[in-house]
Amino acid sequence: MAFFVLPLVLLLSMASPATSCNKQEKSSLLQFLAELSHEDGVTVPWRDSMDCCEWEGVTCNASGAVIEVSLTSRSLEGTISPSLGKLTGLLRLNLSYNSLSGDLPSELMSSGTITVLDVSFNRLSGVLQEPLPSIPERPLQALNISSNLFTGEFPSTIWENTRNLGVINASNNSFEGWIPSSFCISSSSFAVLDLSYNQFSGSIPPCIGNCSALRVLKAGQNNLSGPLPDELFNATSLQYLSFPDNSLHGLLDGAHLMKLKNLVNLDLGGNTLNGKIPNSIGQLKRLEELHLDNNNMTGELPSALSNCTYIITIDLKNNNFSGELQKVNFFNLPNLKALDLLYKNFTGTIPESIYSCSNLVALRLSGNNLHGQLSPKISNLKSLIFLSICDNKFTNITNMLQILKNCKSLTTLFIGANFKGEAMPEDEMIDGFQNLRALSISERSLSGKIPLWLSKLKTLEMLFLQRNQLSGPIPAWMKNLTSLFHLDLSYNNLAGEIPIALMEMPMLTTDLTANHSVFELPVYLGHSFQYRIISTFPKMLDLSHNNLTGATPQEIGQLKLLAKLNFSFNSLSGEIPK
Ligand SMILES: *[C@@H]1O[C@H](CO)[C@@H](O)[C@H](O)[C@H]1NC(C)=O
Ligand SMILES: *[C@@H]1O[C@H](CO)[C@@H](O)[C@H](O)[C@H]1NC(C)=O
Ligand SMILES: *[C@@H]1O[C@H](CO)[C@@H](O)[C@H](O)[C@H]1NC(C)=O
Ligand SMILES: *[C@@H]1O[C@H](CO)[C@@H](O)[C@H](O)[C@H]1NC(C)=O
Ligand SMILES: *[C@@H]1O[C@H](CO)[C@@H](O)[C@H](O)[C@H]1NC(C)=O
Ligand SMILES: *[C@@H]1O[C@H](CO)[C@@H](O)[C@H](O)[C@H]1NC(C)=O
Ligand SMILES: *[C@@H]1O[C@H](CO)[C@@H](O)[C@H](O)[C@H]1NC(C)=O
Ligand SMILES: *[C@@H]1O[C@H](CO)[C@@H](O)[C@H](O)[C@H]1NC(C)=O
Ligand SMILES: *[C@@H]1O[C@H](CO)[C@@H](O)[C@H](O)[C@H]1NC(C)=O
Ligand SMILES: *[C@@H]1O[C@H](CO)[C@@H](O)[C@H](O)[C@H]1NC(C)=O
Ligand SMILES: *[C@@H]1O[C@H](CO)[C@@H](O)[C@H](O)[C@H]1NC(C)=O
Ligand SMILES: *[C@@H]1O[C@H](CO)[C@@H](O)[C@H](O)[C@H]1NC(C)=O
Repeated sequence: MAFFVLPLVLLLSMASPATSCNKQEKSSLLQFLAELSHEDGVTVPWRDSMDCCEWEGVTCNASGAVIEVSLTSRSLEGTISPSLGKLTGLLRLNLSYNSLSGDLPSELMSSGTITVLDVSFNRLSGVLQEPLPSIPERPLQALNISSNLFTGEFPSTIWENTRNLGVINASNNSFEGWIPSSFCISSSSFAVLDLSYNQFSGSIPPCIGNCSALRVLKAGQNNLSGPLPDELFNATSLQYLSFPDNSLHGLLDGAHLMKLKNLVNLDLGGNTLNGKIPNSIGQLKRLEELHLDNNNMTGELPSALSNCTYIITIDLKNNNFSGELQKVNFFNLPNLKALDLLYKNFTGTIPESIYSCSNLVALRLSGNNLHGQLSPKISNLKSLIFLSICDNKFTNITNMLQILKNCKSLTTLFIGANFKGEAMPEDEMIDGFQNLRALSISERSLSGKIPLWLSKLKTLEMLFLQRNQLSGPIPAWMKNLTSLFHLDLSYNNLAGEIPIALMEMPMLTTDLTANHSVFELPVYLGHSFQYRIISTFPKMLDLSHNNLTGATPQEIGQLKLLAKLNFSFNSLSGEIPK
């Protein structure tokens, strides 16, 4: 750690203040330094011989009082000394991004001068101290204690006498017990509360509705239960309402929801909400993000969704919605970038109006009951990068590929589990797909051979053809797909020998720099794996459950980077190569 500490002396300010700091303040600062377990690099520049107003990270006002201490990302270790509380003019303290441990001294929490206290991204622990009774009124405006190791209940009395409190970020700790709600009683300007990534439990306190200035309320990734209280919707300044991954249940009441006219981001994903999306959602004219994924909601998509003309993301995956998508006029949603309707019961065809969403980047309609042939208009979606329409009842794979080859931005295409009774097209005219990186045409008894047109997809990294009825040999040109690192041909009727050419697949033999680009939507493999970064998919060769014969090529040892190999359930013979 010591290695990374900047020699602060090099960063000294050249300006000399009118007055220098007083002895007592200097000694408080030196006391703070003394309690850091890590001294080299910090104590050297903070020399006793110098005016402490010139010390790096220290700011004084014109009369020489220390008003700000900002020592961020300095690899500081040790505890925070209560002596900082003796700086009688200190307004701002920023010690974020260090490795400070121990507790947060109550002298700082209840300081009579500090307005902004930021100790985020440290290893502070213990419970938050109750304030000292002697301080009548505290000027604290913003408290950031996020990303530490604090535990215990969040104190409620602490917020009395903080009339100017506007922001609390306590996210990413281990706080437990009930969500505190008394802030707004003391401060009418309370605007931002982030309690996500903790262990808060119980229900959402109704009195949060009294927070008339509250703009941001985030408490995702906790253990909250119960319904959204009616009173919550009295907090009509809310722009950001976010409770994902809790155990909230009940309905999203239309009459209440429409009161939140300023809402920009609504995230209630990963709960057990039921009922419909209320029609009044259309009155949330500023809505940009709607996340109701992974709930138990039912009914049709309300046509009023078409009134949310600023919407960018609609994530409704893993619910029990049904009905036709035609109800929504996507023509009104020109800003839409991501539409995720994965699972489970939407019916009908893809609405034509969707092809007017020229900013659409990711579209997932997998796991529903949609049918029909793909419209050539999909090539209007010039920004479309991610398309997943697997597991529906779409027909005419030849037609679909002929159309999609013109979608020049596509990198991810999942169309498997459709096309009942059809054959894998061998049409030479299928080319294009200049940027395709992941292709899945799996899981639906497609007959035919592994088609030659695949050999033109030079950018392909992942190919999923498993669980079809493909026959014939594994073509030697597989190795020409120089980016391919994940190949699943399992559960087919492929015959012949394992081609030696497969043992030359460049991505499996040579360690090339990994590409860290991400899927536009998380990709699920089975029920337990979720992938966001393309290169985290395993380097894999799965040829299992086919009718391959002959010996395993000796050259298999060349595939040094292979992480998963499955040749099981074939008719291979001979020895397993050393
Ligand atoms: C500097 O801060 C001290 C302590 O708050 C205060 O008494 C003094 O008036 C301030 N001086 C100026 C010039 O603001
Ligand atoms: C504290 O410093 C960090 C790093 O420079 C900065 O990102 C953060 O905004 C600062 N905190 C406050 C409250 O200004
Ligand atoms: C801590 O929160 C404050 C208030 O929201 C913010 O200004 C500051 O940038 C945050 N600090 C960091 C390191 O992000
Ligand atoms: C709270 O802090 C975390 C980092 O600890 C940050 O990711 C989050 O955006 C902050 N919340 C708000 C509302 O600024
Ligand atoms: C939580 O805090 C840890 C440690 O500071 C950090 O690595 C992590 O990114 C934080 N997580 C979130 C969601 O802010
Ligand atoms: C707050 O909400 C409750 C329940 O929805 C309602 O009865 C009450 O009148 C509201 N209070 C204010 C001040 O709007
Ligand atoms: C949607 O907007 C149209 C036209 O502005 C309006 O007639 C209709 O009542 C709105 N529907 C909802 C549910 O807000
Ligand atoms: C989901 O909703 C159905 C009724 O629509 C209900 O029978 C079922 O118990 C709910 N599941 C959960 C986990 O709440
Ligand atoms: C799908 O929706 C139809 C009505 O549109 C309903 O009859 C059927 O039971 C639903 N299927 C599932 C699996 O939920
Ligand atoms: C399938 O698509 C092809 C190419 O667009 C077309 O020629 C053919 O008629 C279609 N087949 C059916 C059954 O619609
Ligand atoms: C594969 O690459 C080899 C050269 O390495 C070339 O001769 C052959 O024609 C290519 N095959 C296909 C199907 O593109
Ligand atoms: C496997 O191949 C053998 C001969 O190569 C053939 O007799 C047999 O029918 C094939 N089995 C299947 C399931 O295709």
